[in-house]
Amino acid sequence: MKHRRIIVTRTGGPEVLDFAEADCPEPRAEEVRVRIEAAGVSAYDLMIRSSRLLPPKPPYTPGVDMVGTIEKLGEAVTGFEPGQRVAALLEMEGGGYSELLCLPTGRCVVVPSGVDSADAVCLVANYLTAHHVMHDAAKVKRGERVLVQGAAGGVGSALLELCRLEGLELYGTASAYNHELVSSLGATPIDYKTESVVKRVRELTGDGVDVVFDPIGGARQLWRSYRALRKGGRLSWFGMAATKKRGVRVIAYTLFTIGLLKLLPDDKSVPLVPETGIDDAYRATLAKLLDQCAAGELKPLIAERIPLAEARRAHELLERGGYAGKVVLVTEAYPAGGGS
Ligand SMILES: NC(=O)c1ccc[n+]([C@@H]2O[C@H](COP(=O)([O-])OP(=O)(O)OC[C@H]3O[C@@H](n4cnc5c(N)ncnc54)[C@H](OP(=O)(O)O)[C@@H]3O)[C@@H](O)[C@H]2O)c1
Repeated sequence: MKHRRIIVTRTGGPEVLDFAEADCPEPRAEEVRVRIEAAGVSAYDLMIRSSRLLPPKPPYTPGVDMVGTIEKLGEAVTGFEPGQRVAALLEMEGGGYSELLCLPTGRCVVVPSGVDSADAVCLVANYLTAHHVMHDAAKVKRGERVLVQGAAGGVGSALLELCRLEGLELYGTASAYNHELVSSLGATPIDYKTESVVKRVRELTGDGVDVVFDPIGGARQLWRSYRALRKGGRLSWFGMAATKKRGVRVIAYTLFTIGLLKLLPDDKSVPLVPETGIDDAYRATLAKLLDQCAAGELKPLIAERIPLAEARRAHELLERGGYAGKVVLVTEAYPAGGGS
């Protein structure tokens, strides 16, 4: 039996994504084979596709998060059944842009019935990251003021939803075309393209915010985020969206700037995001987020559901910008009219 998947054939633009047939993978003892319904597309996928410096080396299949139905169990698997729908965060080497994938059961969390597979896949990388930076890095407290940079993005919109549930006062930077959306997610929008973000934050808050979440990176951007903090504030940087426009050289400037900001002898801090693993905390947090989604407390923002075969178009959309939320690839196994 064959299946189809996307392969990055060489370093380059979206044109290096090929849709190709592959042999049906067989699960190892502790693995399950999953028929994928939805896979997330992320800025990270674009970054590794376009850089010779970052692993993995082509050919490989991108995609770090997916949702699908278990089709076959490895011989040592217990606690899972064929027919169960599961969500999983994959290795950084990816594999999600595929119709079939074998993966260890430790990565799998059962998706409650009633939750659309495309919604569920948003929770995996984006909401887990948002939850992690809120609670393990910035350690937010009810009532604090928070600025989310890139507020209409996949992780940014997840941060707004989760921060709102925590009772935080929210501000979010976005292009003007995303302001209505940012307001609908409970934040005061700030146009980072036409306004001075720091000045605007001071006008709105008086002395600044307690926490800035910055998934953009770059020296000037991080200085702006830092200056928007009030006394005692925390800058939580966790992403490199700036590489989309400025390439991977931004990574060096970002790391240098973070190092510098950490040395500044003032009252502000730059807590690093602790490493996470595939452990009980990962499974418990993802299960909690899926339950919140099933209960209607979380409504992930999906920019577009794009057929797997059109992965190139998905990457072109991410490069072009002008969307809001997460771009999701769907396979033929994704139920017409939405999953569940
Ligand atoms: N550390 C982790 O575990 C982890 C996990 C997931 C993601 N990430 C990182 O987080 C970053 C964002 O991911 P994403 O999927 O949310 O990306 P995304 O959906 O592409 O969103 C990025 C958003 O940033 C906005 N933007 C661009 N430049 C900006 C600037 N200078 N100031 C404010 N906003 C700006 C754009 O909004 P407008 O269209 O409104 O301009 C865009 O919607 C990526 O670098 C990714 O690698 C890290």
